[in-house]
Amino acid sequence: MRTKLILAFAAILALFACTPKIESTVPAKVVKGVIVTETPAREKGQESALQLTCEPIETVRIGFVGMGGRGNSALKRYFHIDNIEIAALCDIYPEKVASANARVQEAGFPAAKEYSGEDGYKALCADPDIDLVYITTDWLPHTTIAVCAMENGKHTAIEVPAAMNLEECWALVNTAEKTRRHCMMLENCVYDFFESSCLNMAQQGLLGEIYYAEGAYIHNLDYHWPIYTNNWRLDYNYRYRGDNYPTHGLGPVCQALDIHRGDRMKTLIAMDTRSYKGLEAARELMGVDTFANGEHTSTLIRTEKEKMINIQHNVYASRPYSRLYQLLGTEGLVEKYPLPGFVALDSEVLKDKAGIDIPGLETEKYAPEEVRDRLLKDFRPEIIKEIEEKARMVGGHGGMDYVMDYRLIYCLRNGLPLDMDVYDAAEWSCLIELTRLSLEYQLPVAVPDFTRGDWNKIDGYSYAVKE
Ligand SMILES: NC(=O)c1ccc[n+]([C@@H]2O[C@H](COP(=O)([O-])OP(=O)(O)OC[C@H]3O[C@@H](n4cnc5c(N)ncnc54)[C@H](O)[C@@H]3O)[C@@H](O)[C@H]2O)c1
Repeated sequence: MRTKLILAFAAILALFACTPKIESTVPAKVVKGVIVTETPAREKGQESALQLTCEPIETVRIGFVGMGGRGNSALKRYFHIDNIEIAALCDIYPEKVASANARVQEAGFPAAKEYSGEDGYKALCADPDIDLVYITTDWLPHTTIAVCAMENGKHTAIEVPAAMNLEECWALVNTAEKTRRHCMMLENCVYDFFESSCLNMAQQGLLGEIYYAEGAYIHNLDYHWPIYTNNWRLDYNYRYRGDNYPTHGLGPVCQALDIHRGDRMKTLIAMDTRSYKGLEAARELMGVDTFANGEHTSTLIRTEKEKMINIQHNVYASRPYSRLYQLLGTEGLVEKYPLPGFVALDSEVLKDKAGIDIPGLETEKYAPEEVRDRLLKDFRPEIIKEIEEKARMVGGHGGMDYVMDYRLIYCLRNGLPLDMDVYDAAEWSCLIELTRLSLEYQLPVAVPDFTRGDWNKIDGYSYAVKE
């Protein structure tokens, strides 16, 4: 009996010794070999913001925060959007605000109010003459500014990634649920002409049931490192391991897989390589001898419905740009890279599902270019068709940025749910901390359900349009 007790006690001690203490921004523990992070309870008065609709806004008055590269290109796009007002501009540096404001006036618009300094965003968020706070700062202040905006009754749009860790993801969700304000991440890649046509093809059943998807951000940033204000981007990657920029790859495939609209990401596991060029850049620009971020990071995610997503990150690669973008279904394949994209579809499925008769297509071969181009054009979603020409003319990554802004304003003006909600922002951004945890503890990690149980209530992804 005594021996048995000692053995049991030793077994419990051994178990505790093998279970690492998880260092994360929200409480976490290892359950059956998987890191599980805590889901905070909803506070009183807080309810789901799924399909959130708000009062229509006739003229959307916008306050822009962050007048760097991305802020200035956003401004230029808004010169071409009707029913908006460029109400205010903000940056830490007053001279950046002044030069952006000069451009506003050169373009024929009235001068915007100017805010600056570390706390300038607080005054902008409190300004009663603003409906939407549009955040284009570097990554670190995104969530703080967005939460401040919503608490001041403003809708908010945040550049990618919206949040840098789980605590911030939950702060966005909880604040949107409490304040009933929209919080959209500005994930432009979901409006890329190729991806959006493929989403429509997938929704029409041309690929059968999609069970595997790929996405990535593979982009050599050598020439960009010195441009980022105060070196914010290389500095972040110097400090943090993991996929620090997952949303361009993840967004389009999550829409095709109906994430939190019928399925949900459940578990992920990440792996990375050692650093080469990242470390070299950090040595050169920062004078440091370590670099946390792996040269290439790959993450496999399994969904509740037993599908798989493969996401990759490499901002150091000596190779052409790629977001991979692949959807593989039981009946066919679409994939975008290497440019300009391929489709492999079956003639019978095409005829049956879309009434399009193109004999000779088989899924073992890529369709000829002219067929691919016809399909991409024929399946362009209506919401994009109506502004495609103008979007291509105004530009912004070939036009997708303009479509994103146009849709944001259209939905706000018509009191419709936005194309991307706060749960998308949290789900796509949370990979940053989850991949870090997976790499540091060499364990699978559970993906939180930011909808708190409502992931199966909406039947598939769709764009809202005016009746
Ligand atoms: N969607 C895309 O395709 C895309 C492309 C490039 C960059 N981005 C994103 O856009 C954001 C900005 O990137 P960038 O290249 O323009 O960087 P940047 O360094 O050129 O500009 C950032 C600006 O924010 C300002 N800023 C920082 N903290 C602030 C604060 N608290 N209040 C006011 N202003 C503040 C800085 O002074 C700077 O002017 C990042 O989140 C980045 O990931 C997205």
